[in-house]
Amino acid sequence: MNHVKELTKNFVAPHGTIQTTLQADAAFGGWEPSAEAQFFMSLADQLALESDLSDSALCQLLDYLDHPDQDHNGRVRHHLIQTAHQKRMEIYGNRVFLRGLIEISNYCKRNCVYCGIRAGNPGAERYRLDLEQVLESCRIGYDLGYRTFVMQGGEDPAHTDAFLTNLIREVRKAYPDCAITLSLGERSRESYQALYDAGADRYLLRHETADDGFYADFHPGMALSVRKTCLEDLKAIGFQVGAGFMVGLPGQTNQHLVKDLRFLKTLDPHMIGIGPFIPHHETPLADQPSGSVEKTVVLLSILRLMIPKVLLPATTALGSLDPIGRELGIRAGANVVMPNLSPLEVREKYDLYDGKICTGDEAAECRKCIQKRIENAGFAVDMARGDHPDWRN
Ligand code: 5AD
Ligand code: FES
Repeated sequence: MNHVKELTKNFVAPHGTIQTTLQADAAFGGWEPSAEAQFFMSLADQLALESDLSDSALCQLLDYLDHPDQDHNGRVRHHLIQTAHQKRMEIYGNRVFLRGLIEISNYCKRNCVYCGIRAGNPGAERYRLDLEQVLESCRIGYDLGYRTFVMQGGEDPAHTDAFLTNLIREVRKAYPDCAITLSLGERSRESYQALYDAGADRYLLRHETADDGFYADFHPGMALSVRKTCLEDLKAIGFQVGAGFMVGLPGQTNQHLVKDLRFLKTLDPHMIGIGPFIPHHETPLADQPSGSVEKTVVLLSILRLMIPKVLLPATTALGSLDPIGRELGIRAGANVVMPNLSPLEVREKYDLYDGKICTGDEAAECRKCIQKRIENAGFAVDMARGDHPDWRN
C-alpha cells in the first residue's frame, strides 16, 4: 500500500467529505479516519458526484478495499455503501422490484467452464418446459402479483425462433400488462428482432468478463466480440438490455474488474446482473474457491454510483453464498430481486452452481420469504413492471 500512502501524503479532504466523515465518526466511536481512508472516502464522494472515476482510481479503490484490516474495520467500505444507498434512495426510494424467474430449459450447446449445465456435463439431468408449463408458471406468478416474467435458459437448439415467438405471443396475449424478459444467450440479430416483434421487452445477456483473453479462457469456442455485438444488436432493436459479470472467477484481478466497470459505463445498459462465482462440483472449476460476498457488495455500490439509474438485482448467487447476501446487496444499492417461479420438479435441475437457494420452495413461499426479507432490511416490495426510467421516453 506504499503507493497509496505516497498518493495521499498531501491530501486535504474537500468540504463534502469532511461533512460525511464527521457523521460517520459517530458510528466508528469518534475515531478520525486516517488521511488514507479520507482519500478513499473522497473517491466515493467523487464517484457519487460525477458518476465516474478514472480507471486507475477505481483500481486503487478496489485494491484498498481488498484489505479490510487496513480500512479501520471497514470505514471506507461503510462510506461507499452508504453513499450508494443514498443514491438509490434519490432515484428509486426504498422500493425493490420483484421479477418472477422461469427457468425454461437447461439444455445448452455451450461449454462455459464455470457452469453446471454446460454441454460437457453428462451428469446434468436435462429438461425443457413446454408452452403449457410456462403458461402455468406465469399464471401462478401473476396471481402472486408478479408483473415481469423472466424466461431464462441455456442455449437450447430446440428453442427455434418459431418455438420462442409462439411462446412469447401466448404469454403476451394472456398477460398484456406484464413485461417479458428473455435470458437465452447468443442469437442472430434477425432472431432477436423476431423475439422483440413477438412481444418481448427486455433481454439479459451478461458479458461475463470484458477482457478478451480472460473471456476466451472460460468460454471455449466463443469470443467476447460476438457477445458485444449481441448486446449492441439488442440495444439497437429497442430491448431494455442487461449485461453483467461474475465476481471472483479464478484468476480474476482488479484490472479485469475495472475493465468490466468501464465496459458497462460505456454500454450504459438498463440492467446489470452481477454475482459471486460459485463452483459446481461437476465442472473443471469444482475445486476453486467461491468469489467473495463482500467484494460483490462493493461492486454493487460502485455500479449504483457509476450508472445511477440502472436496475440492479441482488442475485440468487449472492443469496446462495451468504444467508443474508441479498439483503446486503439491497442495502448497498441493489433494487431488484428475482425469486424463482419455475415448476418445483425442475428447480434442482437448473443447477448452475452448488448450493443454489430456493430450489425446494413453492413460488408462493419464495414470494412470502423474499417480502419478509426485504421488509426486515428496511425496504418495500414493488410489484409493478418496473421498467427503466428512460425506456421509451
Ligand atoms: N457461479 C455463479 N454464477 C454463475 N453463472 C453461471 N455459472 C455460474 C457459477 N458457477 C451465471 C453466469 C450466467 C448467469 C445466468 O449465471 O454469469 O450469465
Ligand atoms: Fe425463495 Fe426465500 S426467496 S425461499
